[in-house]
Amino acid sequence: MAGSRDQRDRNAIVQDLGGIAAVVTGAASGLGLATAQALAAAGARVAALDLAAGAGGPGLLPIACDVTDETAVTAALDTAQARHGIARVVVNCAGIPGSMRLVGRDGPVDMARFETVLRVNLLGTVSLMTKAAARMMAAEPAGPDGERGVIVNTASITAFEGQVGQGAYVASKGAIAALTLQAAREFAPHGIRVMAIAPGLFETPMAAAVPPEVIEAITSDAIFPRRFGHPADFADLCLSILRNPMLNGEVIRLDAGVRLRAR
Ligand SMILES: NC(=O)c1ccc[n+]([C@@H]2O[C@H](COP(=O)([O-])OP(=O)(O)OC[C@H]3O[C@@H](n4cnc5c(N)ncnc54)[C@H](O)[C@@H]3O)[C@@H](O)[C@H]2O)c1
Repeated sequence: MAGSRDQRDRNAIVQDLGGIAAVVTGAASGLGLATAQALAAAGARVAALDLAAGAGGPGLLPIACDVTDETAVTAALDTAQARHGIARVVVNCAGIPGSMRLVGRDGPVDMARFETVLRVNLLGTVSLMTKAAARMMAAEPAGPDGERGVIVNTASITAFEGQVGQGAYVASKGAIAALTLQAAREFAPHGIRVMAIAPGLFETPMAAAVPPEVIEAITSDAIFPRRFGHPADFADLCLSILRNPMLNGEVIRLDAGVRLRAR
């Protein structure tokens, strides 16, 4: 058994997160904050990106960065790289909710509002992912697999069971889910893995805006346990993904088995 454990230790460059450079977006709050803190606790050197540079804490390098601003994304990656070296771990958690009917009382959806959600959730993720991946491609491959890095994006179970009134959010998260395998295939020759996590309902400031009856419906429909997910549950999965080189091109639901109702 010791032999197989040794093999695992040798395979992933991020098996031992000590000293690894990581970039986390949405790191001032909720899932991103928990992940940034878990990475730092595991010894990673973490750049914590969010709209305002408030994502501080032990071991975190806070950087103000609006992920929809390409210049800001490049500048943030420059700052992080100057301090920590090329990031081999990227976790995209920056996101906004986006409740709106496709056709509501006032008519068809306001395209500017729809676009704003796509701009942050989808384009922000793609911008950060691609700019970071291009840098990772220049990093030294490590371990017998020649791994250069790992990217974890945040989708949502609404990507699979879109609820009434959630069109913009669903479209943004569905695209992230679809891109997971595509990006993994494209980056594979460079030794970069791409994964996504599709959370159910997690207890974060974003979920505070969800009406109590919707929270009750989602938690009571869960298989087990019937509760909110804790941000630490998300961070745990994220670190497992980083450490396991056989996980690639997949979207993992983290939702206690719930399947969302239509509304
Ligand atoms: N909480 C849930 O139940 C849940 C469920 C499924 C998916 N998600 C997804 O998880 C991710 C994290 O959500 P959360 O619940 O932690 O929310 P949150 O609101 O607590 O945190 C999101 C963070 O993203 C930041 N952010 C927003 N726009 C940004 C931008 N343009 N540039 C940089 N940062 C920006 C915010 O400032 C905030 O700190 C989001 O992508 C969200 O869609 C959350």
